[in-house]
Amino acid sequence: MSDILTHTDAGVMTITFNRLDKKNSITAAMYAAMADAVAQAGADPSVRVVVFQGHESIFSAGNDIGDFLNQPPTTQESPVFRFLRGIATFEKPLLAAVAGPAVGIGTTLLFHCDLVYAGDNAAFSMPFVNLGLCPEAASSLLAPRMFGYHRAAEALLMGEPFFAEAAQEVGLVNRVVPPTEVNGYAQAQARKLAAKPLSSLIATKRLMKGDTQAVLKKMDEEGQDFGRMLREPAAKEAFGAFMEKRKPDFSKV
Ligand code: COA
Repeated sequence: MSDILTHTDAGVMTITFNRLDKKNSITAAMYAAMADAVAQAGADPSVRVVVFQGHESIFSAGNDIGDFLNQPPTTQESPVFRFLRGIATFEKPLLAAVAGPAVGIGTTLLFHCDLVYAGDNAAFSMPFVNLGLCPEAASSLLAPRMFGYHRAAEALLMGEPFFAEAAQEVGLVNRVVPPTEVNGYAQAQARKLAAKPLSSLIATKRLMKGDTQAVLKKMDEEGQDFGRMLREPAAKEAFGAFMEKRKPDFSKV
């Protein structure tokens, strides 16, 4: 079965991470499938809302580290950048249902969603510094904007997990429900939205979001730093340590 499942019903396209044995970590092929699905959802008038979901035990462990090292994103047309631009400029409502860990892009993609529902087991983290990297998905712009600078600095510099209640407090999450109910709750909300006039949903979202140029520019800027840092000693040590299941040693970087 595919690692990304896409299903459309009653105007709602649901994109499901389906790679539980690897904690729903995301490969380039999965980014490509999601970028295509998002583009299709944007172009298809019968799709009115998109929902991202994982499993009740895990949303996503972020980038697949091995795959990422084997085929790092190098150009603007890399699947990850295509996916990120797709969600940053998506005109229709985007929802997410998050249970369990949401690591790296598992958290940063949520800044591009309009409504986020979380299981009470959700654990959000942006551990880029701990991986010798820097933020992506315009999170260096959107996290301070949403959380306030100091809370964003704690999340992005420390890189430690924060949990459902704190995520709701900083505005990342709309509502916390039991993990077994989160996907169903998000579906019910998505169906309510799908029954509303699409033209009004699109206009309202566009008016709230305003100009997306600053977000796209920040993504580019981050992408350049991220690509460079991926080849530098700190990231090599962090990724090597993950593969060898040991603690990284940053004393020399
Ligand atoms: N990339 C590649 N493989 C990953 C992965 C990732 N991001 N996250 C987990 N996996 C793999 C593990 O290597 C392991 O594979 P194995 O069974 O072949 O050894 C399997 O998924 C299970 O992972 P494990 O760490 O044993 O699960 P856990 O429940 O103890 O912990 C996480 C879950 C998500 C907290 C933990 O896996 C983790 O921290 N992953 C790395 C997250 C990360 O740094 N992502 C990069 C962000 S840019």
